[in-house]
Amino acid sequence: MKACWAALKQHHEKVCARTILSLFTDEDRFDARSAVSDGLLLDYSKTNIDGTGLELLCELFDAADVAAKRAAMFAGEKINTTENRAVLHTALRRQGDDPLLVDGENIMPEIHKTRARMEQFCTDIRSGAITASDGTTFTDVINIGIGGSDLGPAMAAMAMAPCHDGPRVHFVSNVDGAHIGDTLRGLEAARTLVVITSKTFTTIETMTNAKAAIDWLEASLGHAAPTHLAAVSSATDKTQTLGIDPARVFGFGDYVGGRYSLWGPVGLSLMLAIGPHDFARFLAGAAAMDRHFQTAEPRDNLPVLLAMIGVWHHNICGYPTRAILPYDQRLSRLPAYFQQLDMESNGKSVALDGSELETASGPIVWGEPGTNGQHAFYQLLHQGTAVVPAEFLIAARGHEENLSHQHDLLKANCLAQSQALMVGRTLPQAREIAAALGFEGDELDRQAAHRVFVGNRPSITLAYDKLTPFTLGQIIAMYEHRVFVEGAIWGINSFDQWGVELGKELAVALLPLVQGEVPDQINGSTAGLLQALKAT
Ligand code: F6P
Repeated sequence: MKACWAALKQHHEKVCARTILSLFTDEDRFDARSAVSDGLLLDYSKTNIDGTGLELLCELFDAADVAAKRAAMFAGEKINTTENRAVLHTALRRQGDDPLLVDGENIMPEIHKTRARMEQFCTDIRSGAITASDGTTFTDVINIGIGGSDLGPAMAAMAMAPCHDGPRVHFVSNVDGAHIGDTLRGLEAARTLVVITSKTFTTIETMTNAKAAIDWLEASLGHAAPTHLAAVSSATDKTQTLGIDPARVFGFGDYVGGRYSLWGPVGLSLMLAIGPHDFARFLAGAAAMDRHFQTAEPRDNLPVLLAMIGVWHHNICGYPTRAILPYDQRLSRLPAYFQQLDMESNGKSVALDGSELETASGPIVWGEPGTNGQHAFYQLLHQGTAVVPAEFLIAARGHEENLSHQHDLLKANCLAQSQALMVGRTLPQAREIAAALGFEGDELDRQAAHRVFVGNRPSITLAYDKLTPFTLGQIIAMYEHRVFVEGAIWGINSFDQWGVELGKELAVALLPLVQGEVPDQINGSTAGLLQALKAT
């Protein structure tokens, strides 16, 4: 590995002075530096990666033994070694009936059985065969969950708005009473189904919000409301504590990590909104990406390329963040979803063997949809001192056929941004603009300096025909595998999340102090804040 890192750094030193634009003297660059899988195009021609760079990144991929690690993951080996678990979210979307063994047991029949139960439940709720306690059809569903039990279904439900033909779905995650308070205020208890989603069924935010929702149902209906409840968990025994009918409990194995769980029962609220047929298309898109990831050569393999581009920008060029910029309003929650996927998976400082990492691991992931971001933080992307590799997502066609001119404007904006980042604006061009505005002499120089865009800022673009369930499945699975490949190259465990534990423990310990108990011993800052936050 060391030799690969050194070779990549040496190569970077050689090429970092050239501009990305200069690479387009090669007329075939776009074809050479893009790849496609089932209609999903990844263009990375607007990066400083050339043939040699790609070759060296492929050598790094080989040296890190990623292909063997990938095979181990798909085969159900316990690659999550700090929790002694297999990593098989891919099993939830696996097509066909081939057996897949975990601890000697074929997990596929149970997965299929649960999906069939979900489909029946969703069909019955959507058709009105299952009714609310007063015999009427459910019009609203609230998913109560947080992290992976919220971000996935919330993001995908918004993305798939054109496919919604079931009850309205709402998502409550934050323990801030404002979240559930605002959500319940607009709803009628008699028409509302509450789905409590928690892998562990112990998460304090979810259990607290679930209790508030159950209290609201019971107070509004005047009786206990088991027909208004369902639960999703891998700790199915714990769901009894909230009195949920076992027929409405949908379980999944501990080989599915929370942030990877959207494909199974955690997707129940999504399935309620879009129906089992479109949900199946969503799974099919992800399964197609799984096949592509397992079979395509690294240089043609979208998740592998994405990972190698990520490693190039983060480890070799030293850019600390990356921006996710979907030119799709319905993908507004995608950056937040990728934040958990990427940063909870790869925000690690120790290698699998417990030693300290010698290379940087996961970058900071952030973003907002375009064109909104253009009027907010793109100033920094174009003229700030930090270089932020940008990841654009754009469809050829929108769903609003009567507004196709607006989609054209959206596409033009997306292309304009990646072009501006790469091409920039030179000082002579800026001087011309300043002169045309009537500036002269020193003032012209000053004004021109502010209008220069250095350019040469890298970006990639993901382009697809239309945001369908299939395409959404492909995109999410592709990013999951990107995170896997990057984690494999860095030699970390991408599937645990010990870093979230300390804060949870301290919150439990601090609650009595917030409620008035006098602390024995606590640091001065927290003591001062406790005093300042005393409710009067
Ligand atoms: O706090 C982090 C985390 O454990 C995530 O990994 C997980 O997605 C989230 O909390 C919610 O956990 P659960 O689904 O068990 O409620």
